[in-house]
Amino acid sequence: MNDPQKSTAKAKKPSAKPKPRAKAKPSAAPAAADNAAPATKATPAQKATPAQKAAGAVKAAPVAKVAQPTAVAAPAAEKPSKAASLDAKLDAKLRTPICDLFGIDYPIIQTGMGWVSGAQLTAATSAAGGLGILAAATMTFEELEQAIARVKDSTDRNFGVNLRADQADVMKRVELLIDAKVKVASFAQAPGKAVITRLKDAGVLTMPTIGAQRHAQKVAEWGVDSVIAQGHEGGGHTGNVPTHILMRQVADVVSFPFLGAGGFSDGRGLISAMACGASGIAMGTRFLLTQESQVPEHIKAQYVKTPIDGTVVTRAIDGYPQRVIRTPMIDELEQASPFTRFPKAARNALTLMKLTNTKLMDMIEEGRAMKESKGLTWSQLAMAANAPMLTKASMVDGKDSGILPTGQVVGVIDELPTVAELIGRIMTEAKATLASLQVE
Ligand SMILES: Cc1cc2nc3c(=O)[nH]c(=O)nc-3n(C[C@H](O)[C@H](O)[C@H](O)COP(=O)(O)O)c2cc1C
Repeated sequence: MNDPQKSTAKAKKPSAKPKPRAKAKPSAAPAAADNAAPATKATPAQKATPAQKAAGAVKAAPVAKVAQPTAVAAPAAEKPSKAASLDAKLDAKLRTPICDLFGIDYPIIQTGMGWVSGAQLTAATSAAGGLGILAAATMTFEELEQAIARVKDSTDRNFGVNLRADQADVMKRVELLIDAKVKVASFAQAPGKAVITRLKDAGVLTMPTIGAQRHAQKVAEWGVDSVIAQGHEGGGHTGNVPTHILMRQVADVVSFPFLGAGGFSDGRGLISAMACGASGIAMGTRFLLTQESQVPEHIKAQYVKTPIDGTVVTRAIDGYPQRVIRTPMIDELEQASPFTRFPKAARNALTLMKLTNTKLMDMIEEGRAMKESKGLTWSQLAMAANAPMLTKASMVDGKDSGILPTGQVVGVIDELPTVAELIGRIMTEAKATLASLQVE
């Protein structure tokens, strides 16, 4: 995340208490499982909200099985024409400015997640009417070329690419995005002005992630088209301002449509983000836990069973605050002295160099630039390779020795829908929530 701030979060031990809610096992038929009457105490996510009750969206209406949201049922007493006009108004309200900016149907973005958001997940999200984003920072240049081609083979809808602006070949990647007519570039680290300007001049929309109001102001001055405002609840590198406060602060200082991120998984969240001035929601963890995500199934199962207090923000991985699932491995890393951490981190730096086809000289050059811009020591630099390598260990290799980046929202996610089911369900619920807030 862009210029992460000092975290004030204290490490928490995972609760030893039984979980307060029932978590369904990952199901091959997620829509059915999701719709079933809860066998045990209803969770907040399973309970009917007033909006759902008003719209008959709970139980009576099955979870949408396609990307297109189902129409909100009109109250019986209402005349069809009035119901139809309300329906059209709700649809129009949910077609926010971000939909027009990105050329998408629904204001839902699947964010770039290293080793997680590959071509399959990205294409599925864009095909379902949202915006999928490929995570390029952990790909070689050739892998990125292939991934872009695969997304284009699967869908003609718009999609994005997540870049790391301090990568040695970033300008080559920028030219690739321009040639491939990629619609949106997002950024894993603070992008430089030169990168923004080149993309913007060539017609690629730019959207950095920010974690503080002043960062939103700074990138707005550079001329970005949008930002993802990620709050403390969010997964991976994260700041310390809660999402709903950050969205309000960002709304006060930018004039372009922006997205809220950190803690979203449903239609109620979408409406709350819109109420705070955002034009939609960007989600990582929720999309990681879908059928199309290629994270190994046993790793997804570990996420699904994580309770609401099972995450921690730690600096022990790469020196920056990062939210992950609290595991024995994280405890060990937090307790390790810098002397024991360093050799491991240095090994990971070399492995990452090989995997991303980075030449030693390029790596040193990249490191020197990061040292200067961020004031890091060489040992902190070596640590920087820890996050991607430890994420790969779990997300690609399925090993226990890896880290599990996640948002707090993992604690209310119970199942693995398809991407189309998820987007359809969010839009249906958002519409019902909005309908319930209407004043006659
Ligand atoms: C497994 C994982 C990997 C991530 N990798 C990246 C990344 O490579 N680049 C980036 O900009 N953000 C990354 N993030 C942050 C997400 O893009 C997103 O901003 C965040 O997950 C939003 O919070 P949520 O998980 O509550 O939805 C990652 C998040 C997760 C969970």
